[in-house]
Amino acid sequence: MAMDELKLKVAKEAFNYVENSIERDTIIGVGTGSTANFFIEELGKIASRLEGAVASSEETARRLKSIGIPVFDLNTVGEVQVYVDGADEANEYLHLIKGGGAALTREKIIAAASREFICIADESKLVPILGKFPLPVEVIPMSRSFVGRQIVKLGGDPVYREGCVTDNGNHIIDIFNLVIDQPTEMEQRLNQITGVVTNGLFANRGADQLFLGTSSGVKVFNS
Ligand code: A5P
Repeated sequence: MAMDELKLKVAKEAFNYVENSIERDTIIGVGTGSTANFFIEELGKIASRLEGAVASSEETARRLKSIGIPVFDLNTVGEVQVYVDGADEANEYLHLIKGGGAALTREKIIAAASREFICIADESKLVPILGKFPLPVEVIPMSRSFVGRQIVKLGGDPVYREGCVTDNGNHIIDIFNLVIDQPTEMEQRLNQITGVVTNGLFANRGADQLFLGTSSGVKVFNS
């Protein structure tokens, strides 16, 4: 089955879950990427039932507004009931690598502020050990070289993502060949490097549910 078909299937399943579980006039969190985009299209069906959404990127905000869903600043809303977003990799504990689309910091903030985090992904994203996908790290621009040297000390190969400026005005370093056998510890160690805004490991706050699109249907994993 084509990858886009799997993404569409999983987005529809997540939409059904959200439609059946949310209260009226609620605010939901919406992620970034091609799988999240399928979910946004579905969400348009219940635009009138939502008070609005918080978006993990400017691109997602634009898409939400274009289908009539108001977008709020997270500072103006309380706890977000549910957050739906994709991932670049997921393991069986629902620890994730995110940030392939450079939206990791806002994604991590919304995940932290949400009661429930549902990850939607096609089956190619489920891996035994995280790290084949290069781990994105958002850095303050002037700290880039310094942070890169610290990453080398941790055993990774840092590569500056040329030409990429995040929605927060920062840069991205992708870490190749990092052994991530202890995701929660690695997430903390990377975040302790001065100049790092955050890294794309979502282990301390992983997903609560993973909806995985497979050729034999959507499988749901719980943390
Ligand atoms: C955006 O920064 C990422 O975290 C995305 O959620 C991730 O890259 C998944 O994207 P796709 O759904 O396009 O694979």
